[in-house]
Amino acid sequence: MTHRSLMTLAATAAALTLFVLAPSAHADTAKNLVRTHGCFTCHALSGTKVGPAFETIAAKFAGKKDEEQTLVNAIRHGESGTFGSMAMPANTTVSEADAKVIACWIATLKK
Ligand code: HEC
Repeated sequence: MTHRSLMTLAATAAALTLFVLAPSAHADTAKNLVRTHGCFTCHALSGTKVGPAFETIAAKFAGKKDEEQTLVNAIRHGESGTFGSMAMPANTTVSEADAKVIACWIATLKK
């Protein structure tokens, strides 16, 4: 085997590894955001706390028109009346970009 084809092989292997790891890396980023912004105080992955479970939110909004933007707006500006009598507070420290990462991740939680 030539040096060149070995390099190609190594590059292909690296690309494949990246391809496999990317989705979970994305989920880790989202989970870290949710953790640092204190969302888990009121939300769990499954099971109701103060607010609905992220899985419940995913099931309710999945496939709806503008799902991602609806969740982004709720995360940044707060929301009430969709799940119960408790209101979701606005989160002014969450950027639009970060809210999108979180919204995309929530959307993947639908079972
Ligand atoms: C003080 C408690 C509390 C905190 C902190 C909180 N939430 Fe909520 N969240 C709620 C409640 C209660 C609801 C249900 C509101 C409703 O019925 O519309 C909700 C609803 C939601 C929804 C669904 C939107 C909708 O239409 O109801 C999303 C998405 C969400 N929260 C994400 C987040 C994220 C992300 C964070 C962190 C940045 C966060 N929440 C922090 C209490 C909280």
